[in-house]
Amino acid sequence: MKAVKQIMLVVLGLFFFALQGCSHEDYIPVPGPAGADGTNGTNGIDGTTECATCHSKAHTGPIKASYALSVHAIETLHETTNASGATITLKTSEYTNRTGCVQCHTSQGYIDKVNGDVLKTGTGTALGFPAYPGGKQAISCTTCHDKHSSFDFKNDGNDFALRQGFTPVVLATDASYKIEMGTSNTCVNCHQPRAIVPTTGDIKLSNRFGPHYGPQSTLLEGIQGALIVGSTPYPAPKSAKHRTGASCVTCHMGKDSEATNGAHTWKPTPNACTTCHAGGTPTSVTGYAADMATLEELLVAKGAYSTTTNSLTTATVPIKVAQAAWNYVMLKQDKSNGVHNPAYAKALLKNSIEAIK
Ligand code: HEC
Ligand code: HEC
Ligand code: HEC
Ligand code: HEC
Ligand code: HEC
Ligand code: HEC
Repeated sequence: MKAVKQIMLVVLGLFFFALQGCSHEDYIPVPGPAGADGTNGTNGIDGTTECATCHSKAHTGPIKASYALSVHAIETLHETTNASGATITLKTSEYTNRTGCVQCHTSQGYIDKVNGDVLKTGTGTALGFPAYPGGKQAISCTTCHDKHSSFDFKNDGNDFALRQGFTPVVLATDASYKIEMGTSNTCVNCHQPRAIVPTTGDIKLSNRFGPHYGPQSTLLEGIQGALIVGSTPYPAPKSAKHRTGASCVTCHMGKDSEATNGAHTWKPTPNACTTCHAGGTPTSVTGYAADMATLEELLVAKGAYSTTTNSLTTATVPIKVAQAAWNYVMLKQDKSNGVHNPAYAKALLKNSIEAIK
């Protein structure tokens, strides 16, 4: 610093020496009287601190650790056979790296879908000819996150740099229906059904009959169950308290009570329940397990379900039985044991039982 100052002084000295020696003295500007003081500026916002609340190792460390525990990161395993007939085990995103599946099951497929790009297709079976490069297709940070749409968090809110967080989701099974759930829209994109409930005719069942894994969004919304007429009224869509007062993100990504829940583990955290269930969170939906067991027995009696394979049979059944089977499979695939929408789940069960008793 000192050296710099000394050099500056030398330079200035030479400058004034040069001016002095110059013959055009009248060009030297003469300072006028001092102006009035300016008004005080407003205090600046410390931009770095604001960014660092999320962009610091201290903050993202625990997020990465919780993500690593999640099923999105770990993926489940699936046994299948390869081209030469040998049994092999694949992770979900490898097993489903094919046409019709990539938009929810592979990272790049989801990104292309959200961007409105044409989805790549595999040229053969999933095993040898994946649609997307194999290996790194698990759902990761950059699947759900992209970049901020604005840095004016004060006026525009913080979008958590979500790739698709704020556009209502048009359902894959019903282009006229949109689900709007704030940042939980991200979840709705993938956790929605792929098939719709049959309404007429005799139906040939199979172990693929049903909405397909992931009907959580529609159950929470209170739609797309088979609304068999019966003595228990169905609550209106969007009316469930778990929908109006909570969302996927509040229950599954709330502040963790221990490292293994909430946040980016996506395991429901008890912290999210006690805000409403102050007197203690109910552990189950009243009557759910018993009603599911009754419905299963009735489906077995109608030849629709096998307790040996634990799946639907391939029987052809009347529409009422098919619809009851739909409700059974939908509630099973939802995996929350009715918690997502207790009143709707109970009505579906009661009316299904009544219809095929
Ligand atoms: C409420 C949390 C939050 C705040 C505050 C925040 N960000 Fe982000 N930002 C995120 C998330 C989440 C992501 C996506 C995941 C990731 O990259 O960690 C992201 C991503 C980004 C990315 C893209 C990442 C990349 O690698 O290209 C940039 C750039 C960025 N933020 C800059 C900023 C700046 C600058 C600020 C302050 C003005 C800021 N962010 C404040 C949450 C936040
Ligand atoms: C890109 C699609 C996609 C998005 C977005 C997504 N999920 Fe998932 N999610 C999946 C898939 C696929 C699985 C199953 C992975 C497996 O079994 O290997 C899964 C698994 C899960 C599981 C574990 C289920 C189990 O059987 O144990 C939970 C809980 C979950 N997701 C919640 C959420 C929530 C909450 C959001 C929104 C913040 C979300 N997911 C966003 C596709 C997605
Ligand atoms: C609309 C999005 C979507 C599409 C399209 C989709 N899936 Fe899924 N799938 C999911 C979600 C979400 C889950 C996880 C649900 C859960 O665990 O509750 C899942 C779960 C699964 C599982 C079960 C994982 C397990 O062990 O629990 C299999 C197997 C599967 N999907 C296969 C497929 C196949 C094969 C295709 C294409 C023919 C496909 N999926 C298309 C969203 C989708
Ligand atoms: C399945 C989708 C999904 C994946 C994968 C995902 N996030 Fe997020 N993340 C979200 C959503 C949704 C929110 C907004 C939660 C809310 O509304 O409170 C969020 C919020 C955040 C935030 C801001 C809130 C906070 O807790 O500070 C950060 C930072 C963040 N994510 C970082 C990451 C990082 C790092 C990864 C990878 C290790 C990751 N996310 C993976 C969906 C995802
Ligand atoms: C009222 C709180 C609440 C809301 C809202 C909620 N969930 Fe859940 N969810 C739960 C509980 C509780 C379970 C049961 C967890 C268990 O039994 O391990 C569950 C189960 C699940 C499962 C199966 C997890 C497993 O381990 O088998 C998935 C996937 C899931 N929810 C996704 C979602 C999605 C997507 C949304 C939004 C459309 C959502 N949830 C909304 C509380 C909630
Ligand atoms: C926004 C407030 C709110 C939150 C948050 C909430 N609940 Fe609920 N919950 C309710 C209300 C109100 C009912 C009763 C009405 C109904 O069935 O929809 C209920 C019903 C239930 C039931 C059914 C009880 C029965 O006797 O059938 C269960 C189980 C349940 N909640 C579990 C949970 C869990 C677990 C969480 C946290 C992951 C949670 N709830 C979060 C408000 C909430």
